[in-house]
Amino acid sequence: MRLANSHKKILITGANGQLGTAFKVAQSHYTAFECVFASKEVLDVTSPISIENAIQAHQPDIIVNTAAYTAVDAAETHEVDAYRLNQEGVRLLATLCASYKIALIHISTDYVFDGTSTIPYVEEITPNPQTVYGKSKLAGELAIQDIDDLTYAIIRTSWLYSDYGQNFYKTMVRLGTERDEISVVNDQHGIPTLADDLAKAIFKMIPQLEHSNRGVYHYSNTGITTWYAFAKAIFKHSKIDIKVNPISTNEYPTAAKRPMYSILNCTKIIENFGVSRPHWEDKLS
Ligand SMILES: NC(=O)c1ccc[n+]([C@@H]2O[C@H](COP(=O)([O-])OP(=O)(O)OC[C@H]3O[C@@H](n4cnc5c(N)ncnc54)[C@H](OP(=O)(O)O)[C@@H]3O)[C@@H](O)[C@H]2O)c1
Repeated sequence: MRLANSHKKILITGANGQLGTAFKVAQSHYTAFECVFASKEVLDVTSPISIENAIQAHQPDIIVNTAAYTAVDAAETHEVDAYRLNQEGVRLLATLCASYKIALIHISTDYVFDGTSTIPYVEEITPNPQTVYGKSKLAGELAIQDIDDLTYAIIRTSWLYSDYGQNFYKTMVRLGTERDEISVVNDQHGIPTLADDLAKAIFKMIPQLEHSNRGVYHYSNTGITTWYAFAKAIFKHSKIDIKVNPISTNEYPTAAKRPMYSILNCTKIIENFGVSRPHWEDKLS
């Protein structure tokens, strides 16, 4: 199955989340596609009836699954909930996509890796998640890969931020209005990824996705940084005057262990689909 131009109806799950909202904003630039936005109330990925109703009502050519259990720390104590959505929901969605010959683009995460690498992670590196969230997301990836006749792309991304939903950028801007001083971790390395850029990359992939190039892909913006440097840049571009102190991971304990190194090698997605990767800081301004 190739998603040629005559096939262009896209159903986006998790439509009220951060990435789902980025799709809504980006769609005006991609008028060749007809987009259907399904919030959790319209399409619950844990309910086969709900998925099937949405498929029958809209008959999409492709489903982009942005729905997920994304509360990384809460997942440590809500394992069943995380797996219900990130593994079982994904399995249901993928199974129904295969039955109805619908392609699936699914979003995964850098948290499938243990963060001990010193070079960017390529897709072929064996995952080794250290958190319930990361393990549940990996289980979802494997559920998709189990299905032989499904055309799919699993896109792992990192450090998503945007003007929408909950994310580090918005938290910093809020704290910048509430405090004079803040401490931010400076020993975890990653690449912030604007949700809008990921949505655009996915729109670019859709007409080119076919069974022969199905697989796992990495996508982030460019420019390696730390949360501390990211915070400093956010305050600078937002013209917020606040003292920012660099601290170590040990000084900021969290329920879920964060990867120290989250850099994804994105060569494969560029070579296969020609997507663009702006520098994260260019987008802040
Ligand atoms: N955020 C990051 O930094 C980051 C980094 C790497 C990868 N990712 C991945 O990127 C994807 C998008 O993340 P995001 O930041 O957009 O997450 P998000 O803002 O938390 O959005 C997830 C959406 O899924 C919805 N949802 C929850 N349960 C559902 C269900 N049973 N059926 C259908 N929808 C359901 C949520 O609705 P409610 O809010 O109403 O529950 C929410 O609108 C996820 O797969 C995530 O794992 C995120």
